[in-house]
Amino acid sequence: MKKVRKAVFPVAGLGTRFLPATKANPKEMLPIVDKPLIQYAAEEAVNAGIDTLIFIIGRNKRAIPDHFDKAYELESELEASGKLDRLAEVQHILPPEISCIYIRQSEALGLGHAVLCSKSVVGDEPFAIILADDLIDGGDKSCLQQMVDVYEKEQSGVIGVQKVPLENVKNYGVVAGQNTKDRLWKLSGLVEKPKPEDAPSNVAVVGRYILESSIFEMLEETQPGSGGEIQLTDAIVKQLQQESVYAYEFEGRRYDCGSKLGYLQATLEYGLKHPEVGAAFKAYLKKMDCFK
Ligand code: G1P
Repeated sequence: MKKVRKAVFPVAGLGTRFLPATKANPKEMLPIVDKPLIQYAAEEAVNAGIDTLIFIIGRNKRAIPDHFDKAYELESELEASGKLDRLAEVQHILPPEISCIYIRQSEALGLGHAVLCSKSVVGDEPFAIILADDLIDGGDKSCLQQMVDVYEKEQSGVIGVQKVPLENVKNYGVVAGQNTKDRLWKLSGLVEKPKPEDAPSNVAVVGRYILESSIFEMLEETQPGSGGEIQLTDAIVKQLQQESVYAYEFEGRRYDCGSKLGYLQATLEYGLKHPEVGAAFKAYLKKMDCFK
């Protein structure tokens, strides 16, 4: 049985929806309470059994490799001042057996192009793709772990999806297909960012994919599509002509942290659940009476 061991994180985007915060800092380094978005994404991958993290980075993204690297100065300062809890935290951002690989995408030609940049490192095996600005709280089982379970059963590509209001389909890849089992669709097509009147459904792709490596051949043949970019969605449509791909409606809650509102919602929910500040934050919100 094929195992999913590698995950690709396309993190070369400019984060224009979050300017000026993202002028010099990557949007994936925006924190939700005390952890950057990219760390949530990396932890989700590691907890789903991934051992190789492949980051597709661009200009101004050096903070991402730095975040996952050893920080000698900081560590010796923390050690000298006896802040051993903090020291343990920065030393264990990822378990030691996890490899991180960084690939530079020198031109921003779209999500499909970013994924294609990982071809030689992924090789001939199934792999996951995680878009870190889609933060997903899967509860007991993370979204990617749920998808790995589906992959292992079906031995076919799986795309994470969620139903959205029809007026919002213009922001997503949208699924055409047949609902075969609970939460599972067998794809017959995918449309990138359709108008509501042209959308095949209101089932939208969110930032989680498990794909077979044949996607790379498809990406090599994919011409620029929606927004003039090389779209992963269009390559998946080509892949459908030769193999099955499923869409899986994950259990859990997704926050679009690429948007200000989604980011604020995630901050609020994760803040309320945070072991250190959750109770005090709840008391503060109650006092503010902001739910009137
Ligand atoms: C990308 C994909 C789109 C998907 C979305 C999920 O779009 O192209 O199919 O629905 O991520 O977040 P982007 O948001 O990068 O424009």
